Amino acid sequence: MLELNDVEAWRSYANDQRSKGYSVGLVPTMGALHEGHVSLFRAAKESSDVVLATIFVNPRQFHDARDLERYPRTPAEDRGVALASGVDCLISPTLSAMWPDYPAPTPTTVTLSVLGEAFEGAGRPGHFDGVASVVAKLFAITGPGRAYFGEKDFQQLAVIRQMVRDLSFDVEIVGCPIVRDLDGLALSSRNVQLSPEGRDVALGFSRALRSVATEARGASVQRDTLRAVLEEAGVDVAYAEVVNPSTLAPSRDDETGGRRALLAGYVEGIRLVDNGPVDVAGR
Ligand code: PAF
Repeated sequence: MLELNDVEAWRSYANDQRSKGYSVGLVPTMGALHEGHVSLFRAAKESSDVVLATIFVNPRQFHDARDLERYPRTPAEDRGVALASGVDCLISPTLSAMWPDYPAPTPTTVTLSVLGEAFEGAGRPGHFDGVASVVAKLFAITGPGRAYFGEKDFQQLAVIRQMVRDLSFDVEIVGCPIVRDLDGLALSSRNVQLSPEGRDVALGFSRALRSVATEARGASVQRDTLRAVLEEAGVDVAYAEVVNPSTLAPSRDDETGGRRALLAGYVEGIRLVDNGPVDVAGR
């Protein structure tokens, strides 16, 4: 596995691979790698010739300095996971390589109205501008044919797809299913911050999703059920919504298309998100 830390080196490596006729797959991450990331690396390995993984805790997508400071960083373990998962090239940029102006704002950023302002965007102002900007930059440097993101961050996936459509990036976005622990908790780098008691509370997320996965009722009843299960578990609920999976607009009771439940809340002060498919009334 090649390890490169310089913008021009990533660019020339990716250019070189493409010029040899190899397809390049990109898996952007913030490290603290777990089985969810491994599933992205595997998906990339299956459909791209060369897999590039990036590890960069992007400060521009954190609006809370304490959250940024507490975000887990495990570079030595990450290297081992990437190597064992068949990553061909690992890119761990320094802050100054990615954002030379930081902490001053970058003059150019990508902003997504509507899709970037709801849900996670409402609770974490500027979050998706930071995500979209760093992903756009990684696309510009590495020019991947495909890029792989987890459905765990469902809104992030929708934001990136929208950005790719609007700015005509020549990259196919591949969404990969959520990976869960045996007890149902969706894998997240933040889970290591939970105490055993906090983890029990966090199981409320998957319990809430299961309770509406087959509950063929109106969206408003499903919203109430989701919130009630989360609150009963002890989650400090940020939102519990039922939405159209493409537009993320709140589903109406009489809507017959697909639905997705989006959940977020705090457990022991740690913000967690989860989501899943929801049964539709009258099907
Ligand atoms: O999902 C993440 O880990 C990050 O938001 C991403 C896509 C790597 C951008 O920093």
